Amino acid sequence: MSAENNDAQWGSRLGFILAAVGSAVGLGNIWRFSYMVYDNGGGAYLIPYFFALLTAGIPLLILEFSFGHKMRGSAPFSFARMGKKWEWLGWWPSLVSFVITTYYAVIIGWSLNYIVYSFGRVWGKNPESFFYKSHLNLSSGISEIGGINWTILLGVAAVWFINYIILYKGIEEGIEKASKIFMPLLAVFMLIITIRGITLPGALAGVNKFLEPDFSALLDVKIWLAAYGQIFFTLSVGFAIMITYSSYLPKDSDIVNNAFITALANCGFSFIVGIGVFGILGYMATETGQPISEVVTQGIGLAFIAFPKAINLLPGFQTLFAIIFFLGLTIAGFSSSISLIEAFVASVRDKFDIERKKAVSYVCLAGFVGSLIFTTGAGLYFLDIVDHFVNQFGIALVGLIECIILGWVYKANKLRNYANPLSDFQIGNWWDIMIRFITPVILGYMFIQNTILEISKPYGGYEMSALLKFGWGVAAIMLILGIVVSFTSWTGRKEELLSREVL
Ligand code: ALA
Repeated sequence: MSAENNDAQWGSRLGFILAAVGSAVGLGNIWRFSYMVYDNGGGAYLIPYFFALLTAGIPLLILEFSFGHKMRGSAPFSFARMGKKWEWLGWWPSLVSFVITTYYAVIIGWSLNYIVYSFGRVWGKNPESFFYKSHLNLSSGISEIGGINWTILLGVAAVWFINYIILYKGIEEGIEKASKIFMPLLAVFMLIITIRGITLPGALAGVNKFLEPDFSALLDVKIWLAAYGQIFFTLSVGFAIMITYSSYLPKDSDIVNNAFITALANCGFSFIVGIGVFGILGYMATETGQPISEVVTQGIGLAFIAFPKAINLLPGFQTLFAIIFFLGLTIAGFSSSISLIEAFVASVRDKFDIERKKAVSYVCLAGFVGSLIFTTGAGLYFLDIVDHFVNQFGIALVGLIECIILGWVYKANKLRNYANPLSDFQIGNWWDIMIRFITPVILGYMFIQNTILEISKPYGGYEMSALLKFGWGVAAIMLILGIVVSFTSWTGRKEELLSREVL
């Protein structure tokens, strides 16, 4: 291992791919994707989705993989190596990832709770009322915080503990080993759910809804915005994760093919799960005599309300299917949450020269404390607002700025010339055009549209004061904090590496 390298590395190419796919495949693929498709014109959404994958998702994944691999460190280190004045651009997404983990862990915690509820199907005949009243103990509004929910807290504590154990063990022994167990298990579980879904009576009507194109919907700008947002979230780009993960690859590793494999595996997974989910919804619609549009509830509800409802209606093995579904959701969540935390841990370690075990302990403890607010009676409201703003004004904006800074200041062709000789197949000029022109123009337009929408109509009907504090405020603090931290000085080995020229 050369002195240039990180002290930790993936043990094999497969290990890296499984970890990267594990980061990409998460809660977003199971409930978010299916609902997004449904809400945005069924099959018509798949066109902007694949368009976004090709014009933004894959080019940015190649960009982040090349950059992290070349710079050999966490996102702040990588940007600082490009020029000290860019360090903040690494801190910002690292902090965003940390904030996301605080509520992401809570959703995994609910999923753990639901594994337990699956025995005897505790949610009873009315899963909706169970979710809001018994499980969340939802308060009347965001101003009434309510108490901490002990069952949720227990689940969340378990999630942080498991995250801690995996990350404590490091890259090869922790993340890589966990991914090698998680990913095949997840594939099997989701295949079982999908096969069960499409073999139910009435499933075809649901699958038709999923695949049926509605071309008039393509004229709606909101569908395009939703597709781009989903691609960023689902591929974990703009999160500092993929820069960090690729920095742990040995020097002569493929870049381009790894990016294609990661992106296609992730989107293929979503697509297959989507078919299964819609099959089950079609069955539910047939059984209850409701139109499909009425059996689907929004986002989180799809997993924690519609699914228990569907499971109640299954002709047999209800408990088994419930356990398989929530275990699958939990595993998908874990393989992403460890990557979200690792992006931040790596940043802290690089900057302050802290050993892994200590950094993991501090970060997990801080994350657990941060999660507490989401375990209260108003937790769902906080989660909804933070998630919305951090995604809109964190990730996609980071992606836009990354394209501009790396494409124009660092120069896209420098990264292309770096990635090509290493890769199984080469990227051409088209990639530079994407990074320098197409992707920033689309993301810039999207950002302007989003901001206009956000200002003209307060999100989710919440009070402006709550949106200012937990939405705009949290999103802005991540950026400000990122800038502030970038002014502090580097210590230890990485400080010395910063002054070295990148080969
Ligand atoms: N990429 C992860 C997901 O889809 C964050 O949930």
